[in-house]
Amino acid sequence: MNGWRLLGSLTVLLGVLVVILGSSHGWDVEGLRLAIRATARTSLLLFALAFTAGPLLQLAPNEGTRWLRRNRRYLGLAFAISHFVHLGVIVVLALTDRALFWTLTNLNTVVLAGAAYLFIAAMAVTSFDRTAAWLGPRRWRLLHLVGGWYIWVSFAVAVGKRVPLDAFYWPMAVVVVAIAAVRLVAMRRRSRRQVQVAG
Ligand code: HEM
Repeated sequence: MNGWRLLGSLTVLLGVLVVILGSSHGWDVEGLRLAIRATARTSLLLFALAFTAGPLLQLAPNEGTRWLRRNRRYLGLAFAISHFVHLGVIVVLALTDRALFWTLTNLNTVVLAGAAYLFIAAMAVTSFDRTAAWLGPRRWRLLHLVGGWYIWVSFAVAVGKRVPLDAFYWPMAVVVVAIAAVRLVAMRRRSRRQVQVAG
């Protein structure tokens, strides 16, 4: 499956998941918290695939990594949808139980993690041929480079602060570290190759 059909299927799956989790507790705060955590995890998975699509094809060209690179845009858009659902359920939780909301998060997170949403929105909007052309290739690369790493830092903080509390978060921490390693190794290989060519 590829392209818009892939995005459509992932969006439906996400919707079904949120409805099952939310309604499993009658949409009370426990159900909302389940949905918030689940959408953070689907977001991490989709972000990891989009964030490493180019480098994985560079490092290991095969049918799988070609599929990943071909569908990077749709995986990125699926991440944006998943994470705006994360935000939407968080807003419902804040309206349902404000005191609980402020025990689960703080103003720093709202400001710094909130800024991640500005990047997610800008990257999603510029994921189309017309808007990417309007922005121009140099600014597009800069936005997706800085935005991509800002979102990575947001995941590293959100997962990192939970690792000492629960071993459940170790696999998520391994994913966060592994995707950074893939990007950095590919970047290093590219710059070495450029030096050789220039040389
Ligand atoms: C306005 C911004 C945000 C707010 C207010 C917020 C709030 C929350 C809350 C309250 C939880 C805990 C839910 C619970 O345990 O019941 C949570 C979990 C989480 N959030 Fe967010 N979040 C925000 C943005 C982000 C961003 C930008 C990222 C990463 C890019 C992120 C990643 C996560 C992760 C990884 C978890 C842990 C999920 C789990 O337990 O598996 N959040 N968030």
